[in-house]
Amino acid sequence: MMPDSPISHHSGPEPISDIKELPSEDSASPEQKVQMEQAYAQMMRKMRMTKMDEEIKHKIMVLSGKGGVGKSTVSVGLALSLARQGKKVGLMDIDITGPNVPKMLGIENVDLHVENGQIFPAIGPHGLKVISMAFLLEDPDKPVIWRGPIKLGAIQQFIGDVAWGELDALIIDFPPGTSDEPLTVSQSLPGIDGVVIVTTPQEVALLDSRKSINFAKTVSLQCLGVVENMSGYNLKGSAPPDSEISIIGPSGIPIDVHTDSTGSWSVTLDIFKSGGGASAAEELEVPFLGSLPFDPGIVRGGDDGVHRIIAEPDGSTAEAFDLVVKNILSELDGRKSSKVRIS
Ligand SMILES: Nc1ncnc2c1ncn2[C@@H]1O[C@H](COP(=O)(O)OP(=O)(O)OP(=O)(O)O)[C@@H](O)[C@H]1O
Ligand SMILES: [Mg+2]
Repeated sequence: MMPDSPISHHSGPEPISDIKELPSEDSASPEQKVQMEQAYAQMMRKMRMTKMDEEIKHKIMVLSGKGGVGKSTVSVGLALSLARQGKKVGLMDIDITGPNVPKMLGIENVDLHVENGQIFPAIGPHGLKVISMAFLLEDPDKPVIWRGPIKLGAIQQFIGDVAWGELDALIIDFPPGTSDEPLTVSQSLPGIDGVVIVTTPQEVALLDSRKSINFAKTVSLQCLGVVENMSGYNLKGSAPPDSEISIIGPSGIPIDVHTDSTGSWSVTLDIFKSGGGASAAEELEVPFLGSLPFDPGIVRGGDDGVHRIIAEPDGSTAEAFDLVVKNILSELDGRKSSKVRIS
């Protein structure tokens, strides 16, 4: 399932012939040969990770304390927003038990190109480079059961074997929680810029966000900020100009709305309460990166494989994603300028 070890007897470094303990390839036992191959593959992977650090300007992890808050939707949205601004962007879906990024982008049936032990990412809209365990699973309907160490080894291999090339940004989407996967990535991938935490507006989100922020602190990663997803649901309509109308909100409660001089009206319903993200950010002293509206088009887009940013590039959801990206970029800029240089 994973690609073969990148063994090539022609392209590798010269064998270290003066170390007597190392058996030559001809005299090695089958077990020793396997060990040598594994060591070689690991060394190549490490070298590639170092190269990745040089070639990828920004690496951003997207986390949440709770499942289903929209991490994958947000990861895809951030990546597309950056890509449509002309940036070179990669998106890595590290959710190995429920990878759904390719489906959200309508590229789930792509066959990945593997050459010299390196996996070449699939290409999505706006040239977005995408890698997901979904591409490597033989049967997407079969549950994947990984034992801890095997899963972690697979993730390391997964990260180190991808040929990203030069990127302005790599967005990394995770399964919910702060367990093995983000820990493994934070320890294996050098030069991660920081963590973006996705939450929903309920107050309970505060508790979950705190766990993610503490995780970032524990592994010495900067928390770039909190994004509130599934924020208010915006309704729009028209009625006689400069009039007052009543619309029926959730639980049958009437809401009075004024129309403007052209007869347009608009109201935002806080379906999941409001302000959880902003208050979580304030209380935990991390930046608030913005809110993304509750948008039924996001659910449709997730099922149809056409993200809202692609389906409605000038819509309010696309605009909200652009604003979050702008805030993330200014956090990254601030981070750069606040770095202390020791000469
Ligand atoms: N802003 C939004 N408005 C409406 N629906 C949304 C929004 N964001 C996400 N959704 C929907 O919520 C569901 C969960 O989203 P998503 O899969 O992105 O969450 P997740 O945090 O990645 O989940 P998991 O924890 O399982 O990885 C999906 O059906 C998605 O379409
Ligand atoms: Mg997800």
